[in-house]
Amino acid sequence: AFVVAEPCIKCKYTDCVEVCPVDCFHEGPNFLVIDPDECIDCTLCEPECPVTAIFREEELPEKWEHYTELNADLSQDWPVITEQKDPPPDADEWAEVEEKYEHLER
Ligand code: SF4
Ligand code: F3S
Repeated sequence: AFVVAEPCIKCKYTDCVEVCPVDCFHEGPNFLVIDPDECIDCTLCEPECPVTAIFREEELPEKWEHYTELNADLSQDWPVITEQKDPPPDADEWAEVEEKYEHLER
């Protein structure tokens, strides 16, 4: 499956959700996740993310390994999102910030 990693936190541009043929993106307050049981590895979402937050599970940078479990867990709790929406007003300011895990809202 594909995994959404740290760069998405507080950016949430949602360009990724429209291309997913199986609607497996789920939306939280300031982050998105992919349901690994639904993802069919089509690869369409990966190039859509302006902050390169989406990775094939096998290619996930080691520092973000825990995002695999996070996507699996949070996708069970959060609702599906299929339509793009406006990002948070300060999304561009957070795009370059590297350590954002502490800002993840559940
Ligand atoms: Fe959806 Fe395809 Fe991305 Fe998986 S790889 S989340 S199926 S768009
Ligand atoms: Fe997040 Fe990138 Fe999608 S910032 S919402 S993974 S387009």
